[in-house]
Amino acid sequence: MIDNWFQTGKSLALQASLSICTRSTPIMTVILELKHRFASAMAAALGAEFASQDPVLVPTSNPKFGDYQANFAMGLSKQLSQAPRQIAQAVLDRLEVSDLCETPEIAGPGFINLMLKRSYLEGRLGMMQGDDRLGIPKVAKPQRVIVDYPSPNIAKEMHVGHLRPAVIGECFARILEFQGHDVLKLSHVGDWGTPFGMLIAHLQSAYPEALASDELNVADLATFYREAKKRFDSDEAFQTSARQAVVLLQAGDETTLKAWRVVCALSKRSYRKIYDALGIAEDIVDRGESFYNPYLADVVTALRASGLLVEDQGAQCVFLEGFTNKEGNPLPLIVQKSDGGYNYATTDLAAIRYRISEDKAQRLVYTTDVGQTNHFIQVFQVAKRAGWVSGGVTLEHAPFGLVLGADGKRIKSRDGESVPLQELLDEAVERTRSDLVKRLELEERSETPEWIDHVAQVVGLGAVKYADLSQNRNSNYIFDYDRMLALAGNTAPYMLYVYARVQSIGRKGGVDLSQLETAAVSLSEADEVTLVKHLLLLQDTIDAVAADLLPNRLAQYLFELAQKFNVFFENCPVLKAEDSVKTSRLVLCDLTARTMKIGLDLLGISVLDRM
Ligand code: ARG
Repeated sequence: MIDNWFQTGKSLALQASLSICTRSTPIMTVILELKHRFASAMAAALGAEFASQDPVLVPTSNPKFGDYQANFAMGLSKQLSQAPRQIAQAVLDRLEVSDLCETPEIAGPGFINLMLKRSYLEGRLGMMQGDDRLGIPKVAKPQRVIVDYPSPNIAKEMHVGHLRPAVIGECFARILEFQGHDVLKLSHVGDWGTPFGMLIAHLQSAYPEALASDELNVADLATFYREAKKRFDSDEAFQTSARQAVVLLQAGDETTLKAWRVVCALSKRSYRKIYDALGIAEDIVDRGESFYNPYLADVVTALRASGLLVEDQGAQCVFLEGFTNKEGNPLPLIVQKSDGGYNYATTDLAAIRYRISEDKAQRLVYTTDVGQTNHFIQVFQVAKRAGWVSGGVTLEHAPFGLVLGADGKRIKSRDGESVPLQELLDEAVERTRSDLVKRLELEERSETPEWIDHVAQVVGLGAVKYADLSQNRNSNYIFDYDRMLALAGNTAPYMLYVYARVQSIGRKGGVDLSQLETAAVSLSEADEVTLVKHLLLLQDTIDAVAADLLPNRLAQYLFELAQKFNVFFENCPVLKAEDSVKTSRLVLCDLTARTMKIGLDLLGISVLDRM
């Protein structure tokens, strides 16, 4: 992906100096620009084969040494039988960075220290101003990407376990779309099989009118589910009809299918309500497991044709590479049970084939709990060995850990059930509201009830999402209202506050921030420079998240942005500064706010002009 930005062949500085930087001209990030320059220098100094050698460019730990360090020389010493300093010097002699950096220096055993020029930083800021995307180009070669999320099993009420796939999957989709990819969001809902028997049987006996009208009007799905479960647990005759319903459903009985459709429609509507509250994309396509029923037999046929299929105790399976049972024998992936039935893996295999051949996906991204890691490794392996994944198509599973209660255990309600997601979200909003009301009293502010509602919603839900996304998704995390709602620390409120603060500076100073597009920036203070360098890392951060699917990197970036902005704001007066400095600093404030807004939006979090 990184290569895309090399396509213009023109250097950024050249574009800037000729003022031919148009919005549609892809520009390289600072890091990519430096790598580009190193590639030429290394090829010239060490030979053409070194053009793709990694310059091992890292941010310096101490600003005294500049901004970046190129550490390649040490690693090449043996290969070239030269001292690292000698190699570094040879490359430095060919390195053309005078438009970007102060004169580079060799330090220690052979590091090259690079310090960006202020004029260069100022030029880059000029490219961000007045561009909705802050100068970030779309990728040159957009891919067709499928993000498989939130993919709940809809025969259940939405509980806390449904939070992460929704929030994390949404972030992936937003990031990839922002990069310019063509993203198809597919919710692989569990809409088939045994769990539906109980609901269908309950619907048929307790709500016959729903079958006539094709619509079940119950106030809440949870009650309907609980009623069904209660009967199932206590009534033997009901159990029999539930099982019967499953058999009929799978046999394609029209009456049963009709009841099934009503149940599915009902749960999808109730899921949608929560997705709307969470700001989950409206254009997610519900393409559930049932969709693939007609393609399941083909999976088995195709596996047989590819020679991978083995019959084992009456079941059709593929023996997996790298998976063994206790006795050390290869583990089978069953694709058709001995009774002829198919399973979750068969459905996913059918889905992979469909997504590649019909949807033309080039990259498939799945997000589920870590418990399904082996499932995906196995299914991906079989699909690849069967030759269904060719032409550079990639399959990725991005797993996530559990959401835990304050006691470090799974969050459970008092009766031992999973806590409904709606309850958790409501509580976050309520707590935000009561904090807010207290703060307003203290500050002697009066706001309308609508305003309070809106702010409580945005902050409360934003806090829940941020708490999730700011953790490395692979780990479990503790759901802690006090922590996520705190105004200080790595939290959504802290980030939102920076945005609102900038808007308030604009209001106080009577400045229309959107009119600063062409205002000149001149950097004089170290805290300004530190902030600007961080602002310039947004694109690298987004690219990194798109590549490794770790949203916490973006959260961390925004947290550091907030911190750097606050230091700048404390040490560099804005509205009280004299005219040109004031304007320059207002631009920095505005660019910070806009960076924050884009970044938070990619995390699925909205901003507020006032808090
Ligand atoms: N419905 C599954 C569950 O809730 C997740 C499905 C994930 N996607 C997939 N293609 N298997 O556990």
